[in-house]
Amino acid sequence: MSHTVESAVIVAIDGPAGTGKSSTSKAVAAALGLSYLDTGAQYRAITWWMISNGVDTADPAAIAAAADKALIVSGTDPAAPTITVDGADVAAAVRSHEVSAQVSAVSAVPEVRTRITGLQRAIAAGAARGIVVEGRDIGTTVLPDAHLKIFLTASPEARAARRSAEIKGSDVEATRQALVRRDAADSGRATSPLAKADDAVEVDTTELTLQQVVDRVIGLVEERRTAAR
Ligand code: DC
Repeated sequence: MSHTVESAVIVAIDGPAGTGKSSTSKAVAAALGLSYLDTGAQYRAITWWMISNGVDTADPAAIAAAADKALIVSGTDPAAPTITVDGADVAAAVRSHEVSAQVSAVSAVPEVRTRITGLQRAIAAGAARGIVVEGRDIGTTVLPDAHLKIFLTASPEARAARRSAEIKGSDVEATRQALVRRDAADSGRATSPLAKADDAVEVDTTELTLQQVVDRVIGLVEERRTAAR
C-alpha cells in the first residue's frame, strides 16, 4: 500500500510518562497544521467515569462490563485540545492523583482497550490533513501503518523532574517512584503494552530541549514526505 503522505500524514508518538510526549506532539501538530490526539487523556477519562460511577477499579470484570458506557469525545485542535465525558468537560478532573493512581489498572482491561482503540482509529481516519497521536501503543497496535513512528525516552530522574515541575508543590522523589510504578504496569500488561515498534525512531530527550525534540520530529516528517514524492 502506498501512503498518501501529502494528503494526510499520520505520526505516532509513544513512550513512558514524562518524556515530553504531549508538549512535543502538540507543537509538531501545530507547526504542520495537523490534528492532535492525546490517547492517555481518553484512558484517564474512562477511568474517571469508572471512579465517578462507583465501579471497583480493582475488579477487571466490573471494568469490562462497563467499558462501553461512557461517551468520550476528544477535541483535536493542538492549540486547544479538549476531552468530555457524557458532555462534561473533564480536562482538569482526569489529571487528579486519584485518576493517575488507577488509570493503569483500568487501561489494562482488554475490553477498555478495544473500546478506546476503536475511538482512536475513527478519529485518525477522520483527520483530513493528518494527525499526531500520542500514547503507549500507537505505533505497535493502534496505527501500525503510521507514516512516522517516534519512541521518546528519558532518564527516570529527568522525567520525574519534568512531571513535578508541572504539578505545583509535588515531591520529585515521590513523583519518580509513582512514574516508575506506572511504567512497570504499562509495560508489563498482557494486552498492547507500552512498547517501541520495530520501525520507530527512538529519541532520548534527557539532554534535549523541547524545541530540539520538536525540530527533530518535524525534520523526520519532512524526510518521509520527500521520500514519498
Ligand atoms: O499519557 P498519560 O500519562 O496521560 O497516560 C495515562 C495512562 O493511560 C498510562 O499510564 C497508561 C494509559 N495509556 C495506555 O494504556 N495506552 C495509551 N495509548 C495511552 C495511555
